[in-house]
Amino acid sequence: MHEVIDINGHKGAVANDPATLIPAFCKTVSELLATLPLEEVPAQIAEHLPSLLSCSDLLTPEQQSPSGEDYEKHEVFLCPHDDFSVLAVVWPAGIHSPIHDHQTWCSFGVLTGEIQETIYSATDATPDCCEAGAVSSTHHIAGSVTHLPVNASNIHCMHNPGTTPAISIHVYGGNSAKLGANVDKIYTVRT
Ligand SMILES: [Fe+2]
Repeated sequence: MHEVIDINGHKGAVANDPATLIPAFCKTVSELLATLPLEEVPAQIAEHLPSLLSCSDLLTPEQQSPSGEDYEKHEVFLCPHDDFSVLAVVWPAGIHSPIHDHQTWCSFGVLTGEIQETIYSATDATPDCCEAGAVSSTHHIAGSVTHLPVNASNIHCMHNPGTTPAISIHVYGGNSAKLGANVDKIYTVRT
């Protein structure tokens, strides 16, 4: 059994040092993946995300500045074994993602600003179905965390409803540089 680092136990200057926090968090993610059934991992990772979200200097200036009008992903860490990726996503004010699902599991939390997340359900279970209806919607503020399930429907849309940019921190299964957008399908709203 591997030891899981309690990164919540790091206090003081070390707790706000991204050079310490990010490797410790990523080691914890690796340990969770090595020791838990995969279905349990996204929720457990979400519980550890606040340690990153409370770090005011977590990202470099390049990782947090929007360069255009659409949302933009920045690599924070790629697991060398392709097990997971940590990304920062910058959301200009008012921006929506498409309604989409993912090829892998995902945990995420809000670093700054606010994110409205709407969960959808596909109209039917056929492989070519690209129509979905809203099931629920959650307003995430800075410090909020959540996750998408493994091997189950994970259709959602993210939206920055605020007037300033928002930043979310995502942990995805796999190597995002190899997976690309990590989107299985784009959906339209069921009418
Ligand atoms: Fe997503």
